[in-house]
Amino acid sequence: MTTTPTIELKPTSHPLPAAEREAILANPGFGRHFTDHMVSIKWTEGRGWHDAELVPYGPLSLDPANMTLHYAQEIFEGLKAYRRADGSVGVFRPEKNALRFQASARRLAMPELPVETFIEACDALVRQDEAWVPAHGGEESLYLRPFMIATEVGLGVRPAKEYLFLVIASPAGAYFPGGVKPVSIWVAEEHVRAVPGGMGDAKTGGNYAASLMAQAEAAKVGCDQVCYLDAIERRWIEELGGMNLYFVYEDRIVTPALSGSILEGVTRDSLLSVAADLGLAPEEGRVSVDQWQADAQSGALREVFACGTAAVITPVGTVKRSSGAEWKHGTGEPGEVTLRLRDALLDIQRGTAEDKHGWMHKV
Ligand code: COI
Repeated sequence: MTTTPTIELKPTSHPLPAAEREAILANPGFGRHFTDHMVSIKWTEGRGWHDAELVPYGPLSLDPANMTLHYAQEIFEGLKAYRRADGSVGVFRPEKNALRFQASARRLAMPELPVETFIEACDALVRQDEAWVPAHGGEESLYLRPFMIATEVGLGVRPAKEYLFLVIASPAGAYFPGGVKPVSIWVAEEHVRAVPGGMGDAKTGGNYAASLMAQAEAAKVGCDQVCYLDAIERRWIEELGGMNLYFVYEDRIVTPALSGSILEGVTRDSLLSVAADLGLAPEEGRVSVDQWQADAQSGALREVFACGTAAVITPVGTVKRSSGAEWKHGTGEPGEVTLRLRDALLDIQRGTAEDKHGWMHKV
């Protein structure tokens, strides 16, 4: 059922005092602080979407036999609202996230939220908590986290008949504590993130849980992030688990083509257009780990960067393989193409460059 309920506003009478909010906005970090409100919409089989509300941010009360807690029927999104020079606020490509949320819902046998309801829920929260959108000009933004869980109670394994869709918001600075400094990557040759026919292209918590063991092993060898290979040949570069990858050659830039087990990143997609605008000849292709190593060692591969909503564009520095091979991109500073793309994208998001693709949604 695709009803689009009107969001009823029930604002808190106790927002965080302005001085405390400003102190948070001065150094928000990533995902540590949350705004005063959240949007909540219920879905029940036979009734559709109902009880759409904007309410004070706060804990949920869940039955211990809630189906999500046992069988992980959960999906989420991440998108950002930016303060523009004229003081207004724009959200970057919310429709793209809404469509991906629907695709994730289909994969996890959950109800699809109408695109306009997804966008209206994000808008309602941003409008209400507008004072939490960081000032124009810097790297900071308001990160929106729409998500959906099953709320039915029971231990039978089947799609639930009741769900809760929520949107929360968190002021966000750099995702990595080092800012735009290069991150180190461990290529996981023994672990896989996702398999063909699985749910690697859905944005669901299970994929992130599956990445944590390899992430912990990467940390033991001094690396920040894990790069996953395809599950069949254990050869082709897929993604970092929370970010996509781009490889910068002298005459082209290449990102792994969507394989069904890669998440289709909104930043990845946007950069295909931004790179073309800058004349950088972007391609979706296949890059093997051996090719990565050989091209890095021969100097043919100039730069490598990771991209995602949270991390924007982050350069890759050192790369290590389980076999012991190790190489480095650059000299510890972001590459020239990486920075050009990063600035071009951020300029569109902050409203200081022409939005020729019509990506910014005015709240
Ligand atoms: C994002 O970039 O929005 C992500 O979802 C990555 C991570 C924070 C889960």
